Amino acid sequence: MMIDRPTADPHSDRKDFNNIKRLLPYVWDFKGRVILALSCLILSKVAIVGMPLLLKEIVDALDGKQLLAVDSPEKVMLTLPLLFLLAYGVLRLMASLFNELRDVIFARVRYHAMRSISKRVLNHLYSLSLSYHLDRKTGGITRDLERGTNSLSSILNYLVFNIFPTAAEFIFVAIILLGKYQPHFALITFSTVIIYIVFTFLVSNWRMHYRHEMNQHESQANTYAVDGMLNYETVKYFTNEAYELNQYDNTLNKWERAAVKSQASMSLLNFGQGIIITIGVTLMMVFAAQGVVDGNMTIGDLVLVNVMMLQLFIPLGLLGIIYRSLKYSLADMDMMLKLLDTRQEVKDIENAKVLQVSESVIRFDNVCFDYNKDRKILEMVSFDIPSGQKVAVVGPSGAGKSTLARLLFRFYDVDSGSISIDGQNINSVTQTSLRDNVGIVPQDTVLFNYTIEHNIRYANLDASETEIQQAAKHANIHDFIDSLPDGYQTVVGERGLKLSGGEKQRIAIARVILKNPRILVFDEATSSLDSHSEQLILESLKEVAEKHTTLVIAHRLSTIIDADNIIVLDKGKVVEQGTHQQLLELDGLYAHLWQLQQEEESAAAEEEEGAAI
Ligand SMILES: Nc1ncnc2c1ncn2[C@@H]1O[C@H](COP(=O)(O)OP(=O)(O)O)[C@@H](O)[C@H]1O
Ligand SMILES: [Mg+2]
Repeated sequence: MMIDRPTADPHSDRKDFNNIKRLLPYVWDFKGRVILALSCLILSKVAIVGMPLLLKEIVDALDGKQLLAVDSPEKVMLTLPLLFLLAYGVLRLMASLFNELRDVIFARVRYHAMRSISKRVLNHLYSLSLSYHLDRKTGGITRDLERGTNSLSSILNYLVFNIFPTAAEFIFVAIILLGKYQPHFALITFSTVIIYIVFTFLVSNWRMHYRHEMNQHESQANTYAVDGMLNYETVKYFTNEAYELNQYDNTLNKWERAAVKSQASMSLLNFGQGIIITIGVTLMMVFAAQGVVDGNMTIGDLVLVNVMMLQLFIPLGLLGIIYRSLKYSLADMDMMLKLLDTRQEVKDIENAKVLQVSESVIRFDNVCFDYNKDRKILEMVSFDIPSGQKVAVVGPSGAGKSTLARLLFRFYDVDSGSISIDGQNINSVTQTSLRDNVGIVPQDTVLFNYTIEHNIRYANLDASETEIQQAAKHANIHDFIDSLPDGYQTVVGERGLKLSGGEKQRIAIARVILKNPRILVFDEATSSLDSHSEQLILESLKEVAEKHTTLVIAHRLSTIIDADNIIVLDKGKVVEQGTHQQLLELDGLYAHLWQLQQEEESAAAEEEEGAAI
C-alpha cells in the first residue's frame, strides 16, 4: 500500500514529454471538439483582455479633463459611458460563456480519452501471463490503473484549463502593452512573470519533499489501519489493539509534523509570490503615473495597466499547486503506461490456427519447465493420454502435478519438449481455441462475489436455468443450493468465502460440467471433500468423464484405482507408470504410498471429517 511516487528526477522531463506525446492519439479521437474547445478558450481570453481596454475608455470618458475637450459634454456624458458600460457587461458575459462552452465541449474529449485508455490497459492486463499476475498484487494494479486514468484527466485539465489559457492571455497582454505603450511596460510585465514562474518552480520543488513525506506517512498509516482491520481476528486473539493503535498513531504523528511544515512552506510560497506581484505592479503604476503627469497617458491607461496586470496573475497564483499536481499526475501516468509496456510472455504465434479436436489425444513429449531459472520443476516428462481415457497423475506435494495442468492450459510455455493435442502443438494454435476445449477444476477455487447461479453460468453465459441445475445435480451440489434460503440467488461473498471448501469445489465442478469441454483436468478436485461426498462426486464425475479425455491429479490414491494409466511423478520426473495393479506389483514409490495411505486410512478418515466442512 506504500505510495512510491518518484520525486523530481532530472531525467524525468524528457520521459514526461514522451508520455504526454503518447496520450495525444487518445485526445485526437475528437479532433473537431479539441479545435472547437481551443477556439472557445481563445475567445474567452479575448473577452477577458478586452475588459480592461473598455474600462480604460469608460474611465477616460468620465474623466473631467477629457470631457472639456469635446464640443457638447452633456451628450457624451449620457451616451458614451453607457454604451461602454453595456459593452463591458457583454464582454464579461462572453468571457464566462466561452469559458463554460469550452468545458462542456472538452468534457467529451476528456472522458472519452479516460475510457479508451482504461479499456486498453485492462485488455492488456488480460493478455499478460499468469506469472505476471502472480508476481504483482492486484491492489497495486488497480491502483495504478485508477490513478493513471485520473491523472490523464488532471493533465488534460491543467493543460487545457490553466496552462494554455494563461499562456494565451499572456500573449494578448504582451501584444496590447507593446502596441499601445512604451516598451518598458511590456518589459516589466514579462520580467515579473518570468521571475514569478522561476520562483514558484524553485520553491515548489523544494517543498515537494514535505508533501512527499506527508503522503508516505499517510499511506503507511493507511496500511497499518487496513492490515489491522483485515487481521481483526488475529489482533483480538493476541489482544494487540494497543500495539496496532500505537503503530498507527506514531505514523500519524510524523504525518502531522510533515503536514505543518508543508503548510508553512506553502504560506512562504504564497507570500513570496505576493512580493513579486506587488513589486511588478507598483513599478508599472509608478511609470504609468509618471506618464499621466507627463501627459502622454490618461487615467484610463493607468487603470488599464493595473487591472490587466492583476488579472494576469490570478491564474498564475495557482501555478505552484498545478506544477506539483502535474508532476504527480505525470508520475501516475508513467506507472500506468509502464503497465501497457509490460511484455506478453505467452503469445499467439503469427497466423496461429484454431485447434481442431477430433480424438482429443494428449501427448506430453520430453517436457522441461521451470518457473525460475535456478530451480527445475519438470524434467523430460513424457506420457500420452489416449482418446477418451482417464490418466491419473500422483506424487508427493510439490512434485509438479499442478504445473502439468497449467502447462496444458498454456498459462506458461514449456522450456523444451512439447505438448500436443491430436498432433497439434499447443504453441501453434490460438490460446482461445485451446482453452475452449480444456476444462479445469483447480485445486483452489475462487468464485466471483455474485450469486451461485452467476458463478455456474460463467462457464456458458447463454445457459438456461435448467442446464445450470442439471450441472449442479451432476456435481452433487443441487440439493445443498436448494436448501439455502436464497437458493441459486445466494451471494457467495468475496472470493467465495461464505462457502466451505467442499461446496466451492462442487460449484467449480458444476461449471466445468456446464462448459462441457472435450478434455477434462481435475486437479485434486475432491481434496477438500469428506469421503462420503467424494464418493458421490466421483460417481458423477465418472459419468461425465466417460466421453472425455481426462487427466486426474489425485491426492488420495483410492480415487484413481480405475484409471487407465497412472503416472507417478516425483521431483518433476516420471518415476513409474502403469495401472494400479501393475504399479503395486512393481513395488516402488506408488506401492509405498498406497501402503501408507491404507495404513492411515482410519485415522485419515476421522481427520477428513474434521477438515471438510
Ligand atoms: N508461480 C510459481 N513460481 C515459482 N514456483 C512455483 C510457482 N508455482 C509453483 N511453484 C513451485 O513448483 C513446484 C511444483 O508445484 P506444483 O506443480 O503446484 O506442485 P504439486 O505437485 O503439489 O501440484 C512447487 O515446489 C512450487 O513451490
Ligand atoms: Mg498441486
